[in-house]
Order: sequence, then C-alpha cells, then structure tokens
Amino acid sequence: MKKISAYINAKDKRSVINPEIYGHFSEHLGRCIYDGIYVGENSSIPNVRGIRSDIVEAFKNIKMPVLRWPGGCFADTYHWQEAVGDKKLRKKEHNVHWGGVTEDNSFGTHEFFDLCEQVGCEPYLAGNLGSGTIQELSEWIEYITLDDTSPMPELRRKNGREKPWKLKYLGIGNENWGCGGNMRPEYYIDEYIRYQTFCRDHSGNHLFKIACGPNAMDYNWTDTIMKRLNKFNAGGISLHYYTIPTGDWNKKGSGRKFSKEEYYSTISGTLQMEELLTRHSQIMDIHDPNKDIGLVVDEWGVWCDVEEGTNPGFLYQQNTMRDAIVAACNLNMFNIHSDRVIMANLAQAVNVLQSIVLTEGEKIVLTPTYHVFDLFKTHQGGRSVYCFIENAEAGESIKIPMITCSASVKDGKMTVTFANCSIDEDAEITFDITGFEAEKAEARILTGERQDLNDFDLPDKVAPKEYPVSLNGRTMTAAVPPCSVVSVILE
Ligand code: AHR
Repeated sequence: MKKISAYINAKDKRSVINPEIYGHFSEHLGRCIYDGIYVGENSSIPNVRGIRSDIVEAFKNIKMPVLRWPGGCFADTYHWQEAVGDKKLRKKEHNVHWGGVTEDNSFGTHEFFDLCEQVGCEPYLAGNLGSGTIQELSEWIEYITLDDTSPMPELRRKNGREKPWKLKYLGIGNENWGCGGNMRPEYYIDEYIRYQTFCRDHSGNHLFKIACGPNAMDYNWTDTIMKRLNKFNAGGISLHYYTIPTGDWNKKGSGRKFSKEEYYSTISGTLQMEELLTRHSQIMDIHDPNKDIGLVVDEWGVWCDVEEGTNPGFLYQQNTMRDAIVAACNLNMFNIHSDRVIMANLAQAVNVLQSIVLTEGEKIVLTPTYHVFDLFKTHQGGRSVYCFIENAEAGESIKIPMITCSASVKDGKMTVTFANCSIDEDAEITFDITGFEAEKAEARILTGERQDLNDFDLPDKVAPKEYPVSLNGRTMTAAVPPCSVVSVILE
C-alpha cells in the first residue's frame, strides 16, 4: 500500500472545461456506422429512422457533447452529394481506406444530423480538402445552413428537410500530412486559407473552423501553420495521437491479451500526451498569446491489432480495464490543459479502435472506456481547479506515475477524478482540500484486473460501483485498489 498526499485548491480556479473535451468520433470504417450506429429502417433492431435506439440512449447517458464524422481518412475521399436524396438512387462508394468494401451511402448528411439531434450533440464535420473541391465544400455548407431559395437549400428541401441545420464545427481537411494528401505544412496552410475563405456563415449560422494540425510530435507542422492562422480564419487546429501498446505500428499488440510489461508500456505511451499538449501549446502561445485558437485533439485512443478472425481493415478490437486507465489519464490531462484544449474526440465511438460501445447483432456492450466517460461527465462545463499529487511510481522495467487526478467545480459541486495506474499495488490517497467546504462525498469506482472486459456473454463484468471515501473537514481519504478509476462528487 502506497500512501499518497494530494492537494486541491478550489480558490485557484483555472480554465473552463469545454464539454466538447468529452467528444467522440465516428467514421465510415468497419462496423462503426453500418451495423454499429445505423441499421436501416427495416431492421428488427429497435431504431428511429434507421438509427439504433440503444446506441442513442448510450450516447445520451454520457452526455456526448459532439460527434465527428464522416472520417478520418474516409473524409478525404467523401463526396457528400452521393449520400443525399432517395436511398435507392444513391451512388455506391468503394471505401478505399477501410477494407475495400462497397458502401451504399444510405447514411449521409441527413442521417448524421438526425443522429446528432436524437443524441443532443453538436455535429462536427470533417470536410474533404484532400480530394474534393472548394465548390463541393462550400455547397455542402450552403446545403446544411442556408435558408433561401437558391439551389442548395432547394435541394435540401427536395430531400426532405425544410429548415437548415446549425453547424458549428467544421474541420477543413483531415491528416493532410498523410492520408489527406501527403502535403507539406507550407502547402496545406495555403490551401486551408483558400478553402476557409469560401466556407461562409449563412442565415445566422456561425462556423468554427478547424485546420488540420500536427501528427503527434510534428512541432514544425504546428509552427508553420500557426504563423498564418488568427482568430478570423480559424477557431482551432487538430492534433492526432494514438497509443500503440508495444510502440511498434507493425505489431501493435492485442486489445485483450497482454503482459504486465505491455500494460505499462501502453500507459507510459499514453502519458506522452502530456508532453504533446505542453509543447504544442507552447508553440501556439508564441503565435497566439491570447489563446484565440484552440487545440482540438480530434483523434486519440489505443490502437491495437484487430481481434483474431476479424477483417484487418475494420480495426475492431476489444477494450479492457487497461483502456479505462488510458481514458482516465487522457481525460485528466485534457481537463488540466483546458486553457488550450477545447475539444477531444476519442477514436472511435462504436466497434472501431478504443470504442465506447461494441455491437453484435442486436446485442450491445458498454466497454470499460464507456464507463470512464460516465464517471467523468460531471466535469463537463466545470472550472478546472489546482490539483497536485505527491506521486509514487508504478511498474517494473517501465515506470509510470502511479496516480492521475484532476478536479473541477460547477454549480456548488466539486468533481474529483483519479485513477490508480498500478496493477498490483493499493494506494491510500489523502486529499487536502482548500477553498471548498464539503458536507458529503458520493463516489463511484470502476475496478478490475488489467485484462477484465465486457463481452456479449458477460456484458457487465466491468461496471461502476458505489465506493466509500471518508470525509473529515477538509480531508478526504480514499483507499484505491490497483487498476481503478474513481469519481467523487463533493457538495
Ligand atoms: O481512426 C482511424 C484512422 O486513423 C483515421 O481514419 C485517420 O484519420 C487516422 O489515421
């Protein structure tokens, strides 16, 4: 048992935690959209206009604030006109990036906005700068947001939607350093500025434009594009960083079976996010000291080898307590960096990579990662406050900090979230809390062995439980078993 001291000072209020930090990502990849989110109106699985009702409920329960779509790399070959209008007449599409499957485009713009309306989340579109045209993108925006009698709104009406939708978040390109065109940052930023000029605000809608930012530690990309961005031409830049359990893209490691060593290398790998957030923010601070431009971590999570026997192009992997710890580490880091990080989108929502939901026919499984989003949801919109841990180390040959933690206050309540990242040692954490008088503490814990997971035959093996913490004046004490994530609400 390690005894750990922690300090929270609610008088030291920091940035607001934008709810969008708890965002998600859904791509036309494997079984994320088709079979996962969308089963079609004629399915025997309960649905509303083809969108699975159990998925909508699951997304609503964690207060999903924003959903990114249609990719990913898929966005770089997406032509929206092919996926509107009569479903029987929609042009089929060869999914060149993911498994080479033919898609029938029955899930397009109308269906995506319907999904967001059912969930109550903001839509975040990734526009095609890689292989599309400016006209195509500007017409998409007209189709969605314009309210007059010109051709695009008339086409939308003909396709069944009278009133425009609201669209806030618009990504202009995806991974244009890679699958989105293999561009140099100097070339991309010229293109970005040209494209965004024609992405206009219509009929009272205001676009928040997001430029393609760096891949992981490509600091030169950030520096080069930030030199040309300002609050008039961009609201944010993206950052993509995936955690590879072994650190080797050619043999990433299994999502369900891994050694202790691989567990620690995964957590150590994911904690590199801290350095990425710090260093990209420092570069952004040079060009944008007022923090007008946000960092949008619109792809993050664990990327494993696919589950045995599944299509390698579908990126289907299982999700264990290790993923829960990864999620807790990242969400705590995002909370702490919320002065610059304004959105983050876990990859991906359903049946792909570090999913929150898995489906098999009519069955559904909420993964350990899902439960972490549930435990952390009260941070959304809160004010991050000072939180410091006198940390211990965990691990054997690979060492990591044992505890991750963040705290926020909102509406007279404080949320404290922490995880014990060790897989074999208990921690007793004593929190000294200043500036907040709490009379009661309600806590939940998600805990298990590192390889514990929820499967279709045992969907609730890993689930949050009530958890006792002791509160004595300004001192809160929590005994935290190994491999656990805890959320405490103080009031
Ligand atoms: O999330 C899977 C893929 O990872 C996305 O399509 C792409 O943007 C990234 O490389």
